[in-house]
Parts: sequence; structure tokens; C-alpha cells
Amino acid sequence: MWPPKGKFECPQGALLRILIRIRQFMKIIQIIKEIQDLSFNLKQEGKTIGFVPTMGFLHEGHVRLVRAAKLECDVTVVSIFVNPAQFCPGEDFDKYPRDEKKDLCILEKESVDIVFIPETREMYPDQSNTFVETEGSLIENLCGRTRPGHFKGVTTIVAKLLNVVLPDVAYFGQKDAQQAIVITRMIKDLNFPVKMRVMPIVREMDGLAMSSRNIYLLPEEREQATSINKALSIAEKMFYNGENESSVIKKTIIEQLNNNKNLKIDYVEIVDTERLEPVSTIETDVIIAIAAVVGETRLIDNVIVRSS
Ligand code: PAJ
Repeated sequence: MWPPKGKFECPQGALLRILIRIRQFMKIIQIIKEIQDLSFNLKQEGKTIGFVPTMGFLHEGHVRLVRAAKLECDVTVVSIFVNPAQFCPGEDFDKYPRDEKKDLCILEKESVDIVFIPETREMYPDQSNTFVETEGSLIENLCGRTRPGHFKGVTTIVAKLLNVVLPDVAYFGQKDAQQAIVITRMIKDLNFPVKMRVMPIVREMDGLAMSSRNIYLLPEEREQATSINKALSIAEKMFYNGENESSVIKKTIIEQLNNNKNLKIDYVEIVDTERLEPVSTIETDVIIAIAAVVGETRLIDNVIVRSS
């Protein structure tokens, strides 16, 4: 019988520790049906679900998304899945950094409720012939030019994950600005009942945007990689000091980047935030976006400048 009859001292400290332990107990799920059923039941109970899709090898950028989800939703779900469909031939799918154990420790420390870590065959069984693809400038510009097929892989997996996790709110990072805009469009176009939150870029102390791929950088490359953010900061200052000709700002960025012998520019673009079309004179909000290969590592970064 509980509590026992007679003299009984409530072991408050112990009880609290047990409750904290229970609270911290994180469900790890690999099977679609299992998480779908669980999410469905949570929704039936009136709980809101916040979802953070990731490819793992987690860093502070991911953690901030998790914290935002925890603040706004009753239940937080994080997925870890290195999605083969979004890597182009010859890209780093095989060597993409993975550390499941460390990721789970990070997520447990953040008191995440559910982690979904499916096997590739669970997400892509042999018979799967349906894909989700955005058309037009949103995927043709910026990364779409050098990574054909990449966004088709992203929209397909995110659509699948939304159908599996059934979240109320999904959290993405501004670091992948084009990805966030493409997914926002997809959610709208396909009427997913999901709210989209895009969180600011999290940076290292020296300004380099955090990325799972930064681990690839050799020390000299790591140093040169900081020039990407430095160039963006210079561009931002130029704009706020009155320069609104894209060509002038782009020229300065390119000069800055070209000072680094290990860095090869993929693109430097100034595009509007709606259609991602290049603008020549900045009159609306724009994204100044850079992609560069440093050593062998492709890095992206961006800044939004506001016209009003
Ligand atoms: P991944 O690169 O693991 O990133 C997961 C989420 O974290 C994305 O929304 C990304 O924009 C965000 N993120 C990464 N670095 C960040 C930083 N420095 N600051 C803020 N947010 C950051 O993006 C993907 O995975 C995949 O394409 C995915 C959406 C999971 C689909 O496979």
C-alpha cells in the first residue's frame, strides 16, 4: 500500500529526483507507425507538438530551435535523419558527420520528449515513387543552381516527416534561408496544418555560422571561413550607410572573399525575400547570400537587410 500506514516521512528530495528523472525520460522511436500513433494520441489529449527536423551532429544552432519548441509547445519532437535524397551525386552523404550517442545526450539534457531516428529503409521503402517538388525561382536560384535536385530531396523528406510527426509548429533556422523559404511555400501550397518558425542564425564567437560541416575545416580553412560572415557584415554596413546598388555591394563582398586563397566563391547574391529573384537596386527587404567552398567544404551564410 502506498503511502505506508503509520509514521511516514515524505522523502521530498527523492520524490523530486524521481519526478525529474521521469520528466527527463526521452522516448527514442525508429518506426513511423509508432510515432504517428503517439503524436495522434498526444493531439487527442489537446497537447501541442513542436518539431525540429535535423540531420544530427547537433550544435548550438540546433539546440536553439529545440529551446524555442520547448518554450512554445507542450511536447518537443526532434528527428535525426541524414536524408540521402537531398545530397547530389558526388556530395558528402557518405562522410556526413554522425554521432548519435552525443546527439542523444544533448537532446536528453535539453529535456526533449521524443527523438525520431528512422533507418533509411523506414523513410524510403523500396516502393516509393512519389516526391514533393517546388518549381520556379525559389529552387532555381542560389543553391538550386549548383545543387540540382537538392530541394526536391528536402521538400520530400520534410513533407514525409510532417505527416509522420504531425506537429503544430515546425522550427527551422535562418542559416538555410532558401530552405526555410522553400518549406514555408510548400506548407502553404500543400495546406499542411503546421505553423512555421524560422529562428536566427547562431554563430561561433568569431562570427562563423554554426554548421555540422564546420568539422571538416582544417585550421587554416577555419580561419578563412570567417571571411564569409565578415564580408556579410561589411555589406550590411554599406547598405545601412546608404548604398543600395547591389552590384556595388556584391563587388565589395567578392573582393573581400577573394583575399582567401583556400576559398572559392559559389555565389554572391542579393535577392528579394519572397521569390528569391536577384534585385539590382535594393528597395525592399533582401537577403544577401553567400555560398563558398573553403578547402573542400561548401559553406553558406546570409543576412537579411530591411529596407524600412
Ligand atoms: P540540418 O543541417 O541538421 O539543420 C537542421 C535545422 O537546423 C535547419 O532548420 C537549419 O537551418 C538549422 N540550423 C543549422 N545550423 C544553424 C545555425 N547556425 N543557426 C540556426 N539554425 C541552424 O537542414 C537540415 O538539417 C535538413 O535539410 C533537414 C531540414 C533536416 C531535412 O533533411
